[in-house]
Amino acid sequence: MTAKDFLDTNDFTKDQLLDMIELSRVLKRCVKAGYFPELLRHKALGMIFQQVSTRTRLSFEGAMADLGGDAQFYAPGTIQLGGHETIEDSARVMGRLLDVIMARVDRHEDLVELAKYSQVPVINGMSDYNHPTQEMGDLLTMIEHLPEGKRIENCTMVFVGDATQVCVSEMFICSKMGLDFVQYGPEGHQIREDLLEIGRKNCEESGGSVTVTDNREEAMKDADFVYTDVWYGLYDKELSKDERMAIFYPTYQVTEELMAMAAPDAKFMHCLPASRGEEVTDEVIDGAQSICWDEAENRKHSIRALLAALGKRTPLNDEGVEYSAKAELHAALEALEQL
Ligand code: CP
Repeated sequence: MTAKDFLDTNDFTKDQLLDMIELSRVLKRCVKAGYFPELLRHKALGMIFQQVSTRTRLSFEGAMADLGGDAQFYAPGTIQLGGHETIEDSARVMGRLLDVIMARVDRHEDLVELAKYSQVPVINGMSDYNHPTQEMGDLLTMIEHLPEGKRIENCTMVFVGDATQVCVSEMFICSKMGLDFVQYGPEGHQIREDLLEIGRKNCEESGGSVTVTDNREEAMKDADFVYTDVWYGLYDKELSKDERMAIFYPTYQVTEELMAMAAPDAKFMHCLPASRGEEVTDEVIDGAQSICWDEAENRKHSIRALLAALGKRTPLNDEGVEYSAKAELHAALEALEQL
């Protein structure tokens, strides 16, 4: 793998990302069958959180344990990151004491600084710009739930609602993979032009498309995956909840009626946590078309592969292990080295 860090999926080629997804699928089969390859034995992950988290924290902790490593949790405000000590100095120290760093930060530029000065891989656990580990879990989930007879690059994702960093991230991964991506959102809450430009550039290579619209019929007609996120993100403090409800509700709520406008076997996705009754109804999130619980589980399966791909791997000593996916695992690890 050429890049040291995982800050943005745009730093990787489509093939590199798909190889990591393949490793996710093989490792998922391994652990579900009770084989836990200790690819990060005696390695330490430091997890810096400047905001709360359930899925990201649990996934990184669980993934490190599965691979034989150790995960250290640093709650908001418990370690130095740009306060008394410069980020540069903290990064140098953490790079000496840890093997991998994961950080969820308020400001993306702090993550870039951390990565620049630490000698070890830094993984973006969400910033005000993007959420790339969410993208990888979502890509794995879509590949596992492809519509009958379709390849991933022939699919359409429709993101309903606000242009949160998750919305931007979904646009990044879809355009990288060659999907048609549509944001169905109101004016003033649509993806910024400079970010759309990154997606359009991806599409020149992948053959996908990016569209932003507030036209309901146009947006929904071909949707294979209908995605939404909260209307009041962690970073967007300018509007009160009442103000946001006035903008988005009920037009941009994902309801059974909205799902009926999508492709017949369309799936519902949500990065979670959800505000039930706001961006999505109980009937949709708990309904037969919802794959958001698989999506939450796949955070761990995809993060396990990311850690194995980016971390300095412990040589596998699995000669005595009889497991059908062992050869697949070795092949998937070798494939990563080729790119
Ligand atoms: N989707 C997601 O990142 O969830 P957490 O905020 O709980 O980690």
